[in-house]
Amino acid sequence: MSAVPLQALPLDELRQRSSTKWRKYSDDVLPFFVAEMDYALAPAITRSLLRAVELGDTGYTPPEPGVREAFVGFAARRFGWEVDPQSVFWTGDVMMGVVEILRVVTEPGDRVVVTTPVYPPFFDTVEEAGAVVERVPLARTGTGWELDLVGIEAALEGGARAVLLCNPHNPTGTVHSRASLEALAELAAAFGAVVVSDEIHGPLAHGTRYTPFLAASESAARVGYAVTSASKTFNLAGLKCAVMIGGGPQQAQLLRALPCEVEWRTGLFGAMANVAAFSAESDAWLDSLLAALDQNRRLLADLLAEHLPRAEYRLPDAGFLAWVDVSAYGWGDNPATVLRRRARVAFHHGPLFGEEGKGFVRINFACSPDVLREGIERVAALVES
Ligand SMILES: Cc1ncc(COP(=O)(O)O)c(C=O)c1O
Repeated sequence: MSAVPLQALPLDELRQRSSTKWRKYSDDVLPFFVAEMDYALAPAITRSLLRAVELGDTGYTPPEPGVREAFVGFAARRFGWEVDPQSVFWTGDVMMGVVEILRVVTEPGDRVVVTTPVYPPFFDTVEEAGAVVERVPLARTGTGWELDLVGIEAALEGGARAVLLCNPHNPTGTVHSRASLEALAELAAAFGAVVVSDEIHGPLAHGTRYTPFLAASESAARVGYAVTSASKTFNLAGLKCAVMIGGGPQQAQLLRALPCEVEWRTGLFGAMANVAAFSAESDAWLDSLLAALDQNRRLLADLLAEHLPRAEYRLPDAGFLAWVDVSAYGWGDNPATVLRRRARVAFHHGPLFGEEGKGFVRINFACSPDVLREGIERVAALVES
């Protein structure tokens, strides 16, 4: 039986939240920018956090907070991925995990391949690690995007030491095929490079089979690290907990040897919430979330076809972010700025994701269908005026 779609909370309730999504702009702007969702928490998470608050359980994260076991169980249930518990470690957030791994696997000035357009902090994170970004844009296919394996091979041949992968990809929502991940792993193995795979959107695949990079092949496990969290899927970004997984014993050893501060940065509430999110108790909530997101990604296609027919949008394979080319409307390189000022909707700025994002906006559709409709209608009204 298919799950009943989760209902988003009403706007007046959401506006009482104090997170970036609700506080960055004034109340007359509808927010679709940052990747926060408009649903109530999964009940198991609420229970866990309420109990902690009642107990005043707000101290430091213990040595074994249960994240390891919870993630191993989740990976097996949701992805059929058998993870060695001894290869799982934790830290404050996904980008902290990425930067600490890159710091160790690269030397200052080494080049790291980044497949643009991509989640903007990838650029700064590579630099924070002392490395240099080498852009290899995603290739356009007739129906979406894919890794440019020829371009990545050229970059590795030219000396790039690592690939910072986004699987599934933000902002295009691409779930990379197993074949492309296998090929990437072979390239990395051939050139002695490392793949660090950000898999935060993995649990949000819509139908398309998501392959965790480390599970793609034996080579992938030998060259790779994955960093993920329940934070995107369960809206826990403020709580600070992410999971790092080493593909093989050597990678696990490198993670074990990271400075103890890396683990120490894990928030106790973050650990508790990740444990509850990854538990089987939260599976039904996640299925309902996926049903709601699937509806909305299709609703957005209908709304754009009706009101903004010159916009180009491909249904994302995963997640709740839509990458929409609105360049045909003449709002310049950064349409989000124009649309916020003139239509009172806040989309995310395309050019922040790289050169390829000029003329694009990223739209977060993890909201009620009515809010999504109103957002697109506001833009349509601008076009008509
Ligand atoms: C690909 C990707 N990685 C990382 C993050 C942020 O994760 P964290 O807050 O755990 O660093 C996001 C947030 O949207 C994301 O889309």
